[in-house]
Amino acid sequence: MIVKSRTGTMNCIRTFSVHALACPGRPNTLKGGPRTAGSWEKVEPPVPDEIHLWQADLDAFPGDAGIWLRLVSSAEQDRARRFVFEEPRRRYLAAKAWTRRVLAAYLKLSPRDTPLTAGAHGKPQIAAEANHADLRFSLSHCGRFALLAVAIGDEVGVDLQAPLPEGSWPAVAERCFTREERECVRLRPAAAQASACTEIWTRKEAAGKALGAGLTPRVFSFAVGPASWGTIDCGEGLCVRSLPSQDRFAAAVAVQQRS
Ligand SMILES: CC(C)(COP(=O)(O)OP(=O)(O)OC[C@H]1O[C@@H](n2cnc3c(N)ncnc32)[C@H](O)[C@@H]1OP(=O)(O)O)[C@@H](O)C(=O)NCCC(=O)NCCS
Repeated sequence: MIVKSRTGTMNCIRTFSVHALACPGRPNTLKGGPRTAGSWEKVEPPVPDEIHLWQADLDAFPGDAGIWLRLVSSAEQDRARRFVFEEPRRRYLAAKAWTRRVLAAYLKLSPRDTPLTAGAHGKPQIAAEANHADLRFSLSHCGRFALLAVAIGDEVGVDLQAPLPEGSWPAVAERCFTREERECVRLRPAAAQASACTEIWTRKEAAGKALGAGLTPRVFSFAVGPASWGTIDCGEGLCVRSLPSQDRFAAAVAVQQRS
């Protein structure tokens, strides 16, 4: 099941492993994605300092909307019913069913009985009474793809991003990047500036999710840099690193160590 692990330079993101039980043989957004299925029963929690990354092609998720509806909570069923268009509704449901399927495998529960709540600032989390292993997770979806990070003990954030729309990045950089990040982008060749911005944005999203409040001014106030900066220690126990993605996607993971 574990197809790839890499060693980072910082203690707080020492290793990560890419899993994709749900969608064998399908396109992957992360390099090194697996091609074979494993067994849900064999899923074991990450060890401390390890992050499990799960990726899914939501358009290839096994089953159909009727089956997925039975795996999710009634609140998620209601939200699914409110979608006007079929494709986003299917992807929303597939992402929820898949997330629950993965978390349930760690917790040895059924997907529907996996109790999910939200933190003070909206971050989804496993309800404390069921979370004896102290699992933390973060989800990102981008079109038909989704990425789920699972860690133990420390808060985790993950983001998967398609390239920022052409022409949008100067305004994004002006508003959301530090002076150092803007300078770093400016020094890139013109053709590489948009991708650098997408990388920075993705790393900021991952950081915001690890902090639990999402994209807030706090995340805009410190530098995470593009992928070429490697693993960055942002202070106060927060580390961010890019993930080796493909097909022009950018992906990043962040960990907020709990003291
Ligand atoms: C939460 C947020 C980070 C989501 O990022 P996104 O790129 O739009 O979407 P992603 O698919 O990557 O992530 C969505 C998932 O993040 C998770 N999420 C939601 N709130 C979260 C929070 N406070 N902290 C961590 N994760 C959160 C959920 O699992 C969500 O999935 P769901 O919609 O299926 O429930 C972002 O929308 C946000 O921070 N919003 C609030 C602040 C804001 O609007 N800032 C804009 C200023 S420019």
